[in-house]
Amino acid sequence: MTVESVAAVPTENSSSASTIVVSPLSGYTGAEISGVDLSENLSDEDVAAIRQALLEWKVVFFRDQTIGHAEQIAFARRFGRVTPAHPYEDNPPEGFPEIFPIDSRRYNQQYGRKRTSYDSSWHTDVTALINPPSFSILRADILPPFGGDTTWTNLVAAYQNLPSELRDFVDRLDAEHTFENRAAQGSSRAAAFENKPLRTFHPVVRVHPETGERALFVSPGFTRRTKNLRNLTPRLSSHILEALWEEATRTEYTVRFRWQPGSVAFWDNRATAHLAIADAGHLGYDRVLYRVTIEGDIPEGVDGRRSESLEGDPFYGS
Ligand code: SIN
Repeated sequence: MTVESVAAVPTENSSSASTIVVSPLSGYTGAEISGVDLSENLSDEDVAAIRQALLEWKVVFFRDQTIGHAEQIAFARRFGRVTPAHPYEDNPPEGFPEIFPIDSRRYNQQYGRKRTSYDSSWHTDVTALINPPSFSILRADILPPFGGDTTWTNLVAAYQNLPSELRDFVDRLDAEHTFENRAAQGSSRAAAFENKPLRTFHPVVRVHPETGERALFVSPGFTRRTKNLRNLTPRLSSHILEALWEEATRTEYTVRFRWQPGSVAFWDNRATAHLAIADAGHLGYDRVLYRVTIEGDIPEGVDGRRSESLEGDPFYGS
């Protein structure tokens, strides 16, 4: 279903056994799902309904969930193979190598300053990898009393609404994705960035492997360091990427989520980018969330060409 044809009204899953209700939150992106308890072993039907809502709305939200690391991982496994926490995470919670803590209390040491998320730029998770995660699931634990929201944007809508001449042009481009090493000098994280570089050329327009939709697969987080579009000069690459980032993050394609303890966000990295809004760290508030990621495939462009790894290995789950 295209984003234009979706009715912005709550929809109940057709099965009489399921209590799932999907309530869209904005015209293009995001829906809240109620009537489901993520601590339970969900039926195949509920899993299919959640996946369908996710493919349609790109990010879905659950509220008031009482789950811990084990339940979060078990839920994620219903949607694919769960990866280790992150290619550069060397200290996941004991017994849970899949959990990536987003924990302001750790960032003084890692980044040399107080921050509420590890990144405060628009990005899609770990696109420096040849096979970036297909989905991410983020669970909130400790939150500032105000601020610390996250925003997602719909990269399919961003592509579909470009003029056709521009779509034809960007269809043929590839962009280099890599990490910008902003870790504190001398920290283990900085060393990991240096010793295990990850660099990949991805098609700027990615065809979604499940929906067939085309997405504008660029975000500043992973493309701003090199600003490199294959076969174009640095100057042209820079101008074109800036224009595409602006299109990708137009406010009408976004949804902003206010976290509460027990909130869970589940998004499709093949069709979205997101931004952790950095408006609470300077006030000294802590913010702690836990993320798991689901293994992704190697992106394909509109002509079937695949991403090309320049440095680093694929990231597999189990
Ligand atoms: C993330 O980039 O996965 C985390 C987003 C956030 O901290 O809100």
